[in-house]
Amino acid sequence: MPDSSSPVVLAFDRVSLSFGGETVLREVSFAMRRGESMIVLGAAGSGKTVLLKTALGLLTATSGRIELFGEDVTGLDEQAWYERRSHVGVLFQEGGLFDSLTIEENVAYPMLNQPRLACPEEEVIRRVQESLNFVELGHTLEKFPSELSGGMRRRVGIARAIVTQPDLLLYDSPTAGLDPITANTIIALIIKGRDMRHATTFMVTHRYQDGQLLAGFHHDEATGQLLPVNGQRETGRTHYLVLREGAVVFDGSATELEASRDPYVRRFVRREEGA
Ligand SMILES: Nc1ncnc2c1ncn2[C@@H]1O[C@H](COP(=O)(O)OP(=O)(O)OP(=O)(O)O)[C@@H](O)[C@H]1O
Ligand SMILES: [Mg+2]
Repeated sequence: MPDSSSPVVLAFDRVSLSFGGETVLREVSFAMRRGESMIVLGAAGSGKTVLLKTALGLLTATSGRIELFGEDVTGLDEQAWYERRSHVGVLFQEGGLFDSLTIEENVAYPMLNQPRLACPEEEVIRRVQESLNFVELGHTLEKFPSELSGGMRRRVGIARAIVTQPDLLLYDSPTAGLDPITANTIIALIIKGRDMRHATTFMVTHRYQDGQLLAGFHHDEATGQLLPVNGQRETGRTHYLVLREGAVVFDGSATELEASRDPYVRRFVRREEGA
C-alpha cells in the first residue's frame, strides 16, 4: 500500500514544453509513487501523448524538472535515457508493432535491444512465450501483425510492454477504437499486470469506464477473475489527472473527480454507466 513514504517512480515539477511557438505542456506537476496508478484524461490534442513521451525522454521539456525512479533525469543525454527506458514498458497510442516482424519477434524486440537485458536466447524465448501466454495469445508466435484483429494486436502490444518486467508501465489510449467488450478485456489485462507484478501504471484514456475499472477492480489470482475492490484500499491507489490545453486542471481521487463541478472535468465523468 503506497503512502507518502513509498519511493517516487515518476514525478513532473512544473514541466512545460513548446513546439516552435506553440506551448503544449504548461507547468505540469504530479507525482506517482511505487504501486500507484494514474489515469490521464483530456480532450484530443490536450497533451496526453506529449506528456507520456516526455516522461520517456522521447520529447524534451522546455523547462521544469522530471524525476524517474528517484533520479533527476531532466536534461539527460539520449544514451542515458535509452538505459533508463529499459525499466519502463510502453504501449504507444499508435500500437507500434513492426509489420514485417512476426509476433514472436515483435515481443522479443525490447529484450534484444537493451544491453541491460541481455540474456541467453532460450531465456528470451521463454519470456516472450510467457508474455504472450499472459495475454492469451501464446498460439500466435509465427503470425504477422496484419493477420491479427485490432484487439489482438493491442494484446500483443501489452505483451511487448511487460516482457522486460518493468517497474513502470505506460499505456497510451489502450482501448481507443475497440468495441466495449474487447476494451474491457484490454483493461482486465492491464489490471492483471498491475496486480501480479505491483507495477506502477500510467494510463492515458478517453473512456472514463477504463479508469473506473482500474480504480475499482483487482485481479484475483485464485480465480483469474476481476473482482470489485471492497473499501478504499485499491481506489486510494489510483489517481486521476485531467489535462486541458496542456495544463493540469484536476489531480485527485475518483471520488474527488466525481464531485468536481468544473464543466470541462465533468465531460469525462460518466456516473453509473457500467464498465
Ligand atoms: N512532434 C510534434 N510537433 C509539433 N506539435 C506536436 C507534436 N506532437 C504533438 N504536437 C501538438 O501537441 C498538442 C498535443 O498533442 P498530443 O498528441 O499530446 O494530444 P493528445 O492529448 O494525445 O490527443 P489524442 O487524444 O488525439 O491522442 C497538439 O496540439 C499537437 O498538435
Ligand atoms: Mg494522444
